[in-house]
Amino acid sequence: MTDNIAYVNGEFLPHAEACISIDDRGLVFGDAIYEVIKCYSQRPFRLRDHLERLKRGAEEIRLPLPLDEESVVRAIDELLARNVRMAESSLYVQVTRGPGSRFHAFPRVASPTIIMVLSPAAPLDPSDYEQGVRVITVPDRRWDMCNVKSVGLLIAVLAKQSALDAGAADAVFVRAGRLVEGASANFFAVSNGRLITHPEGRRILAGVTRKVVLELAAATGLGVDFRGPKVDEIGGFDEAFLTGTGTEILPVSSIDGTTVGQGGRGSITAELQRRFFDVTRTGVLHDRLAGA
Ligand SMILES: Cc1ncc(COP(=O)(O)O)c(C=O)c1O
Repeated sequence: MTDNIAYVNGEFLPHAEACISIDDRGLVFGDAIYEVIKCYSQRPFRLRDHLERLKRGAEEIRLPLPLDEESVVRAIDELLARNVRMAESSLYVQVTRGPGSRFHAFPRVASPTIIMVLSPAAPLDPSDYEQGVRVITVPDRRWDMCNVKSVGLLIAVLAKQSALDAGAADAVFVRAGRLVEGASANFFAVSNGRLITHPEGRRILAGVTRKVVLELAAATGLGVDFRGPKVDEIGGFDEAFLTGTGTEILPVSSIDGTTVGQGGRGSITAELQRRFFDVTRTGVLHDRLAGA
């Protein structure tokens, strides 16, 4: 709970008063998609990419978005203006298929729900960003529409809890012997000076941070192999890291107890972090990368 102002279907309300129906299909069926957008100095980072992904997801699940892109942007601007100024904030946007009787098929008349909530971004732990974090692997039991940012996150919730229970920071899903992505982040390995990451498609979320990392890699002439790194290659990784809106670029020091590289942050990861920091915090390239 915060004292902040939230947005619900066109209205700006104090967080505690913002509510939706208990019959909302987002709650009852998980019939909803979402975005999490980081705002640096009040500016939503790569907003167009997030809204584009929201639109693609909506098309995939046949959900009519209640607002066009420009109206969403205006609502976000107003939300940012109405809230206590935060140096770094996290903007949560969720669109559901709205309220209805508990019948699986779509309601005859669509009345989608859209909510937006702004909260202070969780501070990043400097030691994790310098020394890396331990991760575990878990079997990927998710569905084959991982490209859709659905609120149906139960498997990710269980994976993350298993990681914390094991004293690790995150879990990486494994399918057919390959590292796919983290519970809420994309996964990269570094081997022989090249990045290795699972290709886009139905097995991963096409992360906005992943896209920025790929742009930074291209700008520095760093090669990328688009394939899921194999579990039996872990011992040979020079570096590994996770990417995500909240995670940013987080080095991985070990996977299932096997040390990655020298066991800390590798030089390629450090260089990508530095460039990512420039893009997000100093505004250098910010507008160009945002396509503004
Ligand atoms: C499963 C999964 N993969 C990857 C990501 C990273 O995506 P982004 O960089 O757009 O935040 C997320 C973010 O929530 C996620 O849930």
